[in-house]
Amino acid sequence: MSVKPDPLTVPFGTVFCDWMTTARSDGGPFDYRGSPEPFGDLSFSPAAHVLHYGSSVFEGLKAHRQIDGSVAIFRLDTHVSRMVTSASRLRLPEIDPGLLHQMIIDAVAANADEVPDPPGSLYLRPTLVGTGADIGAAAHPAPSALLFVVNSPVGDYFKGGIRPLTLQVESSAPRTVPQFGMVKCSANYAMALGPTLDAMAANEAIDQVLFATDGDITETGASNFFLADGERIVTRHLDDSFLHGVTRDSVIQLARHLGYEVEERAIDPEELVDWSERGEAFLSGTAAGVAPVGTILYSGKTLTIGDGQPGPNTLRLRQALTDAQTGAAPDTFGWRTSVRSH
Ligand code: COI
Repeated sequence: MSVKPDPLTVPFGTVFCDWMTTARSDGGPFDYRGSPEPFGDLSFSPAAHVLHYGSSVFEGLKAHRQIDGSVAIFRLDTHVSRMVTSASRLRLPEIDPGLLHQMIIDAVAANADEVPDPPGSLYLRPTLVGTGADIGAAAHPAPSALLFVVNSPVGDYFKGGIRPLTLQVESSAPRTVPQFGMVKCSANYAMALGPTLDAMAANEAIDQVLFATDGDITETGASNFFLADGERIVTRHLDDSFLHGVTRDSVIQLARHLGYEVEERAIDPEELVDWSERGEAFLSGTAAGVAPVGTILYSGKTLTIGDGQPGPNTLRLRQALTDAQTGAAPDTFGWRTSVRSH
């Protein structure tokens, strides 16, 4: 293994493991050679479909060092199936779930020595891009494609570790377009960038923009949004307009297991005023984990959530998620896939 900086001290996603897996398709099944290859630059034509027409989808999932020293991937099959859906929504070549599952396992097995101890983890980034050289294919699917899995040892996504985040509610600009809301495609992140950077330029305390287009709170650019108190958690009901977070789903299942009521429903930003006085708010995402929210800037008001510090219910759910990921709790929901190192 090459010498790398401590993942807990560098920005999230800037250090990469030595091995990756790749497979190519000429429109038909992906051709995977069945073993990892050294991490390195990829090559495709300057006329590649992805560079002109944005044919790119990806996943974000994690492998965790278990308390017994082994390595397990968290919610592998759920991520695989979401990526299969994303690829099909962008009319990219169909991914065989079994193949992607194997490519992810092979990459993690090859990089197993690089999985940090908790609170670090290995972030896995399967990506699929249209590579066909055809700049006439604006209204055609990418004629060929490249599927690859790269791994990055990571610490916290938000700089500064566990700390109360500041959100700005954005009531007009949407995060993305309705037909792509639930697709994990690269274009969605490009679309959220302008409003996010504008908000951050106006106020450097802002960590994330909370999209609430036309009074409907959905998600931030990088995570789903929850409200919580001692009895319930509340989050936006699923539809095609926003990303169906796997961590969102994990939090919901863990919360039910712990005895919380779960309300999946529309959330009007006006509700935030009341919740700020008596409840908690947090974000959920693979990268973000369960991240407490301390302040929400909404309609000219600064809402301090509770006392502005991470609340007990948020911390309880965060711990339940960490325990499920790292093997400190029984695998009640069958979420962990063990990986043997090569
Ligand atoms: C993830 O949480 O895995 C994501 O893909 C969000 C990204 C902004 C890091």
